[in-house]
Amino acid sequence: MKAFGVQVAGTGSYAPARILSNADLERMVETSDEWITTRTGIRERHIAAPDEATSDMATQAGRRALEAAGMTAADLDLIIVPTLTPDHPFPNTACYVQKKLGVPRIPCFGMEAACSGFLYALEIGASLVRTGAHRNVLIAAAEKLSAFTDYSDRNTCVLFGDGAGAVVLRPVPAGEDRFMASAIGAEGAHTDLLHIPAGGSAQPITHERLDQGLHFIKMEGREVFKLAVPAMVDAATAVLTEAGISSEQVRWLIPHQANTRIIDAVGKRLGLGEDRVYVNIARYGNTSAASIPLALDEVVRKGLVQRGEYVLMVAFGGGLTWGATLIRW
Ligand code: ACO
Repeated sequence: MKAFGVQVAGTGSYAPARILSNADLERMVETSDEWITTRTGIRERHIAAPDEATSDMATQAGRRALEAAGMTAADLDLIIVPTLTPDHPFPNTACYVQKKLGVPRIPCFGMEAACSGFLYALEIGASLVRTGAHRNVLIAAAEKLSAFTDYSDRNTCVLFGDGAGAVVLRPVPAGEDRFMASAIGAEGAHTDLLHIPAGGSAQPITHERLDQGLHFIKMEGREVFKLAVPAMVDAATAVLTEAGISSEQVRWLIPHQANTRIIDAVGKRLGLGEDRVYVNIARYGNTSAASIPLALDEVVRKGLVQRGEYVLMVAFGGGLTWGATLIRW
């Protein structure tokens, strides 16, 4: 049912002050700036303060998105926080964001689809606005990946950073819908390629598991790499086809920022040149669910997208999960 169209009313982002550079990492593990930049494109990443939680970053990004939308927190009637690094196993992180924004009684939920979390939340949020079930929806994706990263494991510690990105969705008349098409998917056969083994019900925290570092992110990088490109290309192609839009009409591809080699391959296969693929991984690393809304906010605030232009977002992450969303700005 399509009672309303959906529009991104405002965007916001937040990155913690502390920066961890490749030179810093060279002093921590056996790695080099040259290895990290050529294999990943990452030069530095932001790291949250010890007392800064995922909800703090989501709240900051959320406030900026509300301001950009010309709204206050009182205008919201739903908060979704996609994250794989929640403040606590429960209650959900969106409840903390609600408390920090000071808006009582509206529904709040957190959700986990790893790096695809923002696009999962976007599909859900847009669907709820479209039916009229909710009006103004804040999606505030945030990650404190540094809290789950083993800084003695060079395979993973060079990749991840902390940050947040948010959008506020609002209803518009059905004929002015800005959400053109969306596709999300998952393949649970690959759960072990990218995961945090311990800390959940399957492997509750024990001293032994802590000693083995099972509470940290584990990744089969090469396998993930191989699956990422086709999954992202297929999802992007599916939404373009559904919307009847060719890739030449896309002003910006905003991909999940995991690795420049993955991003380049996806851009190339979709026929999009560098001038139409937004990349900010050098400054943030992989911020999982936060990476797409953080990049979107940069594109918007730099004035790089004009009303009516098409923005294609595409993600891939643990699960394995993937997603693509096409919007008209
Ligand atoms: N510094 C120096 N050497 C390193 C480092 C490092 N930081 N990390 C690994 N190496 C070494 C390896 O030990 C290996 O050495 P060996 O040949 O002696 O065994 C060599 O470099 C090559 O390792 P590979 O893993 O094959 O390197 P690859 O080219 O595949 O790059 C990378 C690794 C960057 C992790 C890549 O595989 C990748 O980006 N994969 C995808 C990750 C991803 O997209 N994740 C997205 C989802 S994240 C989420 O959902 C939270």
